[in-house]
Amino acid sequence: MDRDQLIDLTRRALKLARDKTTDLMPTESTVAAETYTSAERHAQDVAMLMASPQLVGYVSELPRPGTYCTKTVMGRSILLTRAADSVVRAFENVCLHRQSRITDGCGAARRLACPYHSWSYDLTGNLVGVPGKEGFPETSSGTSRLTELPAAECAGFLWISLERDTTLDIPAFLGPLADELDSWGVGRWSPLGEKVLDCPINWKLAIDTFAENYHFATVHRTTFATIARSNCTVFDSFGPHHRLVFPLNGILDLDELPEEQWEPLQAMVVIYALHPNIVISCTVANGELFRVYPSDVPGRSITVHQNSTPLDLSDESTAAGAAAVFEYAHSTVRDEDYALVAGLQANLESGVREHLVFGRNEPGLQHRHTTWAEAIS
Ligand code: FES
Ligand SMILES: [Fe+2]
Repeated sequence: MDRDQLIDLTRRALKLARDKTTDLMPTESTVAAETYTSAERHAQDVAMLMASPQLVGYVSELPRPGTYCTKTVMGRSILLTRAADSVVRAFENVCLHRQSRITDGCGAARRLACPYHSWSYDLTGNLVGVPGKEGFPETSSGTSRLTELPAAECAGFLWISLERDTTLDIPAFLGPLADELDSWGVGRWSPLGEKVLDCPINWKLAIDTFAENYHFATVHRTTFATIARSNCTVFDSFGPHHRLVFPLNGILDLDELPEEQWEPLQAMVVIYALHPNIVISCTVANGELFRVYPSDVPGRSITVHQNSTPLDLSDESTAAGAAAVFEYAHSTVRDEDYALVAGLQANLESGVREHLVFGRNEPGLQHRHTTWAEAIS
């Protein structure tokens, strides 16, 4: 984001904070409780996710030619590589022999050997080694390849499609957010690993927890609310995506300063909601990524939480500090947001009330649910 844009957002956030209000939608709205509980909707959601471009990580997870990483996406194990030609590729992480996962984690390698019988693959997906070759005259004939999926890097992130025969056009998918996300640089910062939450909540309910800060004063009274304002959000939509600006408590101090002296990034957290299942939270020091997936039943979901930092992690105490910040954010989501909405999911499943209400002050929720409903219709 350029400075003019940041100053403009800061002006809007400061005005909301000063007026003790928030960006408002024209009306309240409702969604049916079944949105989170019905098997039919669950199947529609899964189909929607399978057909959508999937952001799966930071480009810094494949930092140079000859590196690879693995991801679990919609229950499928995916191998991503950056081979000697620097191109990012994605493959089903499924050995051509007896379908073992070829590798886990991430690293640097010229070849990857399957842990079961040591069939090996180069980073462009070719099968290049079969011990006891005479046992496999057909498969080892020289043209066998891992199953490849469409892959791309854009805006600092790694993207795949779970559908083999599609073309990924991420710049078109992101629209103006492609350049904006890229400008943060969070995808090129150092990755701090993945933390996984397997929780008894619908995947949309998980995402809902990131879509408003109306709950900060209550749910995060002793954590986030000590640094960020409650019920105060700048909202903008970009097609199926949206951006939320959450002002920090100190934003009112900017009233005392001329705009030339403002440091906007010290005054706000910026949240990007990418359709359909991605949340990115940007600050000067952290680029958090939440990838949320439906699980086997409507009432379960998997959240993969990542974080990246611009700090130099080669320094041990810096690395320990960054890891502690990541753990703090993660435990807050787990113990405050997700723990609370697990009870909400149980209420939704009880069928006691047919609807939930989204306020005018919850534009992120209204926008997410309208977009999802349109995508499955
Ligand atoms: S399953 Fe991979 S080598 Fe046998
Ligand atoms: Fe929260």
